Amino acid sequence: MKHYNVGIIGATGMVGQRFATLLENHPWFTVTALAASARSAGKTYQAAVGGRWAMTTPMPESMKDMVVMDAAKDIEKVASLADFVFCAVDMKKDEIRALEEAYAKAECPVVSNNSAHRHTPDVPMVVPEINADHTAIIKAQRKRLGTKKGFVAVKSNCSLQSYVPALHPLMGYGITKALACTYQAISGAGKTFERWPEMVDNLIPYIGGEEEKSEKEPLKLWGKIEGDIIVDAKGPAITTQCLRVPVSDGHTAAVFVSFDRKPSIEEIKEKWAAFSGEAQRLNLPSAPKQFLHYFEEPDRPQIKSERMLENGMAVSIGRLREDSQYDYKFVCMSHNTLRGAAGGAVLLAELLAAQGYMD
Ligand SMILES: NC(=O)c1ccc[n+]([C@@H]2O[C@H](COP(=O)([O-])OP(=O)(O)OC[C@H]3O[C@@H](n4cnc5c(N)ncnc54)[C@H](OP(=O)(O)O)[C@@H]3O)[C@@H](O)[C@H]2O)c1
Repeated sequence: MKHYNVGIIGATGMVGQRFATLLENHPWFTVTALAASARSAGKTYQAAVGGRWAMTTPMPESMKDMVVMDAAKDIEKVASLADFVFCAVDMKKDEIRALEEAYAKAECPVVSNNSAHRHTPDVPMVVPEINADHTAIIKAQRKRLGTKKGFVAVKSNCSLQSYVPALHPLMGYGITKALACTYQAISGAGKTFERWPEMVDNLIPYIGGEEEKSEKEPLKLWGKIEGDIIVDAKGPAITTQCLRVPVSDGHTAAVFVSFDRKPSIEEIKEKWAAFSGEAQRLNLPSAPKQFLHYFEEPDRPQIKSERMLENGMAVSIGRLREDSQYDYKFVCMSHNTLRGAAGGAVLLAELLAAQGYMD
């Protein structure tokens, strides 16, 4: 496989730090550029992050002394150093859309963790196991942007990263409706307990904008390319409630689902066990060998024992049983900053590289 130089935009943030650790020993990608706000620009990565380093492993030695660039002012410089960039920044949506398109127009593809472009109709939003074929829309996006190589591709929100993969292999039974209550970790808000002490022994029943994302984004993932746009699927309808819980990493979802043709419990477990996608077929470096893991024990999946399964890239499922109002209910969980954020974006970049879009 060809080797690629990559940049991290928002390198000093929670997701940016996760990119730095994931890319430290990546077999295909080497970090050659770091960028963040004007506050960090001109400082070494170590100085810019200061006391904010939130990873359990130390800052990569190879990046400590790299000088952080200004994400908005140094676009040409970053683009000259990197074959493509990962982007995770805390800015207004219209500013993010403009920033990401500016990188694309500088012929530097962007793999984004931000939500700003998720509903731009010619921007693919991809979970590589579910809709790897949506990357074909990049041709139309390049035409709109007037680029040869540059484009923006995004990953979906961390909240849905457990229940959409669990529902996807069951689509053949005709899902009529689904309900998901999510219990989301504080790292999803870019926080640690040190920086958010109010979350210790607490639950906040509101995460701004999260329920809308959790209900709308699955329809784009299940959508189809028609001409120069991706058209959202009409269903299945999903209703959600998203709660912030005192967990450092790992989003759990309690899911209820009904079908046109109700499968048996054994059939559902077989579908989950047999499920794999393009990420496994292409043997991408960050792909879990087994994407969906079912646990028979009644008290699993648990955050502490399951979140790092397959390097935090798998989905853990348990407690599948009949329900009195829906056909079935179950619980599922995924690591929100690995599979749900930086890890999912690295896997998407691997897919794009394997498909030839980074050349
Ligand atoms: N945390 C998660 O699990 C998660 C999951 C999925 C998606 N996301 C998304 O990823 C993005 C980043 O989240 P995060 O949790 O990593 O946030 P964060 O920890 O607050 O980090 C924000 C980053 O954005 C940079 N930034 C802020 N203003 C900027 C500007 N004007 N120009 C350039 N860079 C600027 C910051 O640089 P300075 O250090 O210089 O200020 C920092 O690197 C958000 O859009 C978020 O919604 C997060």
